[in-house]
Parts: sequence; structure tokens; C-alpha cells
Amino acid sequence: MGSFVVLEGLDGAGTTTQAARLTERLEAAGHVVLRTAEPTGGPIGRLLRTTLQGGDGAADRASLPWLFAADRADHLARTVEPALAAGRWVVSDRYVPSSLAYQSLDRPLDLVDGLNRWFRLPDLTVFVHAPVEVCLARIAARGEAVELFEERETLTRIAAAYEVVLPLLEARGARVARVDGTRSVDEVAARIWQVVTAP
Ligand code: TYD
Repeated sequence: MGSFVVLEGLDGAGTTTQAARLTERLEAAGHVVLRTAEPTGGPIGRLLRTTLQGGDGAADRASLPWLFAADRADHLARTVEPALAAGRWVVSDRYVPSSLAYQSLDRPLDLVDGLNRWFRLPDLTVFVHAPVEVCLARIAARGEAVELFEERETLTRIAAAYEVVLPLLEARGARVARVDGTRSVDEVAARIWQVVTAP
């Protein structure tokens, strides 16, 4: 049977790298794995990426809670649910906790939660924890254009929001594991593997 694993963290925490590492390890162990991400590459996800990058055709920031929720509904229906039904593993770079942490900057948490609380719980959420300064240094080292949320004060608020949101989800039965994301890529990957394979 497959399992639905979500990686979460601040921009720069390393969720994308670790989603790739976890997928490789699961595949090496003989599992069929769907690696996926939110925002997705689908129609709503593309609009979201344009909006995050501030390009032509961006939607207003005020619409983000609904767009991320709509992208998630599309993602679950077209990608995640069919893979789980086929017995595959699904490794998603971000899911509901990102909306609760990031969109609660602009809107009441209750509103964002209301849009997201009926989506299925993952089997495991791995929170890759790294301090804001470490994340900012990694974002700067990428040398890419800085996106909407990738700024010190904003990331500090998002980090605080995760501390509220993760216990909320745990109280509802979500299994959340926190991993120290300041270690080397190999060390973090090894720790995530331990958590994923823990009984
Ligand atoms: P990110 O994983 O950083 O993608 P990329 O590596 O392509 O930049 O995600 C994009 C941004 O979207 C990130 O700043 C977090 C934000 N986000 C939300 O605000 N709400 C959400 O529900 C999701 C899934 C992401």
C-alpha cells in the first residue's frame, strides 16, 4: 500500500531537495512513487506561479487563499487520489499546512482553514525546520529572482504561523514529524528516511 507524505517548511528550508531525495530512496526500496508539488503545474498552479513571481497576468494577492485551495482540489482529484488508489506512494512538496501558514498572513486563519479542512490528511507531514536567517542565505545563494514571500519579515511571520498551524493539525489527527533542516542534505535525508520508515 502507498502512503501520502508531505514535506513542509519555509522557502529555503530544503523541501524540494528533500522531496527528490525521499523519492529516490523509496524507489530504490522498490516502491512506485509519484513526486508532486503545490502549486501544481496545472492551470491554477500556473496562475499561482505567475502571481508569486509578480509577472504579467498575475492575479491579485487577495485571491491567493482561494486559488491555492482550488489548485489543491484539482491536484487531489487529478493526481494524488488516483495515485493512492493505484497503491503508489505520493510525495508532495507542500500541501495544506503551507496555505494555513502563508495565507494566514493576509487573511484570518479561520477563513483559510475553512477552505482547507475538508481535504484529506496526509499519512505523514515532515516539517523541515530551519531558522529564517538560514533560509534567506540559501534563497540568496540560489541567485534567482526573489518571490512574493521570500523576505525576512514575511518569513519570520510565516515561521511563527507554522508553530500555530502544525499543532492545530496534530490535534485533528495529523502525524507531523519535525526534522532539523540546518544539517547537510545527506543528514536531513537520512533523518527523513528514519521518520518515514518508523513504524
Ligand atoms: P515553493 O515550494 O517555494 O516553489 P518554488 O521552489 O518553485 O519557488 O512554493 C512556492 C511558494 O508558494 C512558497 O513561497 C510558498 C507558497 N505557497 C503558499 O503561499 N500557499 C500554499 O498553499 C502553497 C502550496 C505554497
